[in-house]
Amino acid sequence: MRNLIINGGKQLNGTLKIHGAKNSVLPVISASILLSGKSVLHNCPDLTDVTAALEILECLGIKHKRSGSDITVFSDVPESFVIPDNLMRRMRSSVMFLGSILARCGRVTISAPGGCMLGPRPIDIHIAALKKLGAKVRENRGMLEFSAKGGLKGTDIVLDFPSVGATENIIMAAVFAKGKTTVHNAAREPEIKDLIDFLNSAGAKISNGGTDTVDIEGVKELHSTEHTVIPDRIEAATYLTAAAITGGNVKLIDVEPSNLSAVNDVLAKSGCEILCTGNSVTINAPARLKPVKLIKTNVYPGFPTDAGPLIVSALCTAGGTSVFCENIFENRYVFVDELSRFGADINTYGKIAVIEGKKTLLSAHCQCTDLRGGAALVIAALKAEGESTIGNICHIKRGYQDIAENLCRLGADVKEI
Ligand code: UD1
Repeated sequence: MRNLIINGGKQLNGTLKIHGAKNSVLPVISASILLSGKSVLHNCPDLTDVTAALEILECLGIKHKRSGSDITVFSDVPESFVIPDNLMRRMRSSVMFLGSILARCGRVTISAPGGCMLGPRPIDIHIAALKKLGAKVRENRGMLEFSAKGGLKGTDIVLDFPSVGATENIIMAAVFAKGKTTVHNAAREPEIKDLIDFLNSAGAKISNGGTDTVDIEGVKELHSTEHTVIPDRIEAATYLTAAAITGGNVKLIDVEPSNLSAVNDVLAKSGCEILCTGNSVTINAPARLKPVKLIKTNVYPGFPTDAGPLIVSALCTAGGTSVFCENIFENRYVFVDELSRFGADINTYGKIAVIEGKKTLLSAHCQCTDLRGGAALVIAALKAEGESTIGNICHIKRGYQDIAENLCRLGADVKEI
């Protein structure tokens, strides 16, 4: 098992390039199945979740080539329509293949998806929407079998909750449906717009991407295309928060500042100067952060749940009490016990976390519980004086490319062993 060894107490300073977004590249890889031809994808991060998505393609008999941050998918009608249980368990995003395989093969079989243990993560919204499009669903020995023999039919779908994954699955499923599909109360995350841009560049007819009402006009076929994945706003939020806790001055390049507004607003409230220009964000943090009275997660453009653990960690050394309210996932706070090993003073009451800022944190041995919770431990270790060990970093590798190298580039002392 690999660990991160962090010698904390060093200020982060310098410039860093942000990778492509995990939450974009995964649905885009899934959507590449829909093309009759080649998808050339640029700016793809090297993450274990991306490797898992490519393994799903292999399992379906779809060829691909990976070279640096480019991935080329040579799409054909998949030889198989079954995603085996071991691949489904590897990551939550395996559920993203539901819509694309169903649309391309007229059937798909999956088991319950894996991923971070952030509480119950049902796929009822995905299933209800696919049924509305005309799919038949059958449960067979732990596997879910979807079929749409005569093809799917466009319809109006109203989501109970603007689920990111469900919105993406419906869009992919509806690309070849007969007629028009309208998704009401759709999620508006930037990664959804990126998926839509990819599909439209291949000949899909999807309008109003990035709004809560998305229209998909069914087409017969999609053709070859080339697409550059948008920057990862959560990776960017991670390095901004790491700079904030260490009182540093860091410039991130290759980011989309408008996608980071909610995070930047909170960092500004904590006393950081934030400067956005073109495709860069610069943070200049005070020696000690100010507490933030109340931060609430919400669907985009609200404060992203994935940045919650990062900011909770940074506020552990603020000069007073901060309150955090998590509204998306029930078990987001699984990482808090591990964070307490650094001497952090956090009490959770259901959705609420009360963070009493301490002047400093202590070095600690801890274990990652999930992806963003793991990143929160890294942030704490960067502040804590002395050597900390973070174990179970397979979680971190799902979402961060070269995290140790990147932090070292900014002046931190981090080793992966
Ligand atoms: C995506 C992101 C994840 C992010 C999350 C919320 C990817 C690969 N992952 O996950 O990083 O944390 O959005 O911004 O893009 N829900 C249901 N029934 C469903 C679907 C969802 O009850 O059928 C609930 C979930 O349990 C959760 C909430 O809705 O409480 C949000 O889930 P959703 O927006 O679907 O998140 P994901 O697509 O899984």
